Amino acid sequence: MKGIKRMNYFNLIYTSFYSDYMLALKVPEDACKREAKCKHFGICGGCSYQHICYKDQLRMKKEFLEKLFEREIKIIPSPKEFFYRNKIELVYAFNKLGLREKGTYKRVVNLKECCLHSEKVKEILPELHELFKEHGIESYDYLRHEGYLRYVVLRHAKFSNQHMVTFVTANEAPIISKVAESLKEHFDSIVWSINSSKADTSFGAVQQFWNSAHIEERFEDIKFKIGANTFFQNNSYVALQIYRKIKERAFGKVLDLYAGCATISAFIADNCDSVEAVEINSEAIDYGHTNLHINDITNVELLQQDVYAYLKNKQSLDFDYVILDPPRAGLERAFKHVLRLKPKSIIYLSCNPVVFRRELFFFKKFYKVSEMLAYDMFPQTPHIELLCVLERK
Ligand SMILES: C[S@@+](CC[C@H](N)C(=O)[O-])C[C@H]1O[C@@H](n2cnc3c(N)ncnc32)[C@H](O)[C@@H]1O
Repeated sequence: MKGIKRMNYFNLIYTSFYSDYMLALKVPEDACKREAKCKHFGICGGCSYQHICYKDQLRMKKEFLEKLFEREIKIIPSPKEFFYRNKIELVYAFNKLGLREKGTYKRVVNLKECCLHSEKVKEILPELHELFKEHGIESYDYLRHEGYLRYVVLRHAKFSNQHMVTFVTANEAPIISKVAESLKEHFDSIVWSINSSKADTSFGAVQQFWNSAHIEERFEDIKFKIGANTFFQNNSYVALQIYRKIKERAFGKVLDLYAGCATISAFIADNCDSVEAVEINSEAIDYGHTNLHINDITNVELLQQDVYAYLKNKQSLDFDYVILDPPRAGLERAFKHVLRLKPKSIIYLSCNPVVFRRELFFFKKFYKVSEMLAYDMFPQTPHIELLCVLERK
């Protein structure tokens, strides 16, 4: 491809440094522009491309990936351009409830709507503000580490239309219970969790729940229970397409590394002789067991372990397919053991193509790329998901 240098040591350092490809994605001069749908666009850090027609967002992503990987890549659009996200983490700070301003961690946009999550955001925000005022719910200043309510997390199971809200507080004061009681009619699940650490995350220890501790999602005939701290792919419409693709490719004896709550394992199980799934997070493992149980799946074994520790002592990986779906940082130290063990076929799902390109550079010595597809999991943003099937040479 024109103007693209061959992958070399310099590129590797470049991609290690810019481990997030967002930095490299630029809007072309000739991109078709339109009016943004959301009133907060431009100030809110939640999205960057609402003003670009969707077909050109796809073109930008495709061109970027093709330059990065020096090959043609098919990009599969999201079935929904708006209201596709099944989870939004609203920060409650400085008496504002919303997302962070574009380019700064220190300010929060007081949201009135969000066109990425669901219509429920617009409907519930005024009510939340009223309830917080009525019950004296103090916001949490994450710069000084003072205050009470840190996050309000909304989840929407798109295919079953179930809604969940999680209130994450900084301490055990039970005032939030009054807010939760008032919302019982509006949500299938209401959870109160506590994060008393300085880490600015919306994860917390579950203290109490109302109606149910989880919501249920359905991908075809497979049900998934989703809890307050459960990882679930953000765009259910695209995740279902990816899972179908993985199911089409993987069969026989399969190893699912970075398995979350066994969603991929459960979805592909009836296509496989057996699946071994490895995940580090104990809550995900618990939900994984539940998911296998409610779907009567008996050929999946779940192991709670660090992938690195799991691979380190292995002399071989006797599987037909190894699925890798690591977090944004990629395989990190587990990478050398995947290379050492050289499984027959790898299905790699990456949410960070720049990190994946770095790893692919080494994989290519032993593997050929049999398929590479990009899925637009995050319309209106620079993010993209990549699925790559590698076959040992
Ligand atoms: C991108 S998610 C994938 C989840 C799942 N495959 C899915 O489709 O929902 C990555 C998962 O890897 C887990 N994880 C992160 N580091 C890990 C490690 N070192 N060992 C095992 N699991 C890890 C996280 O807890 C998370 O559930």
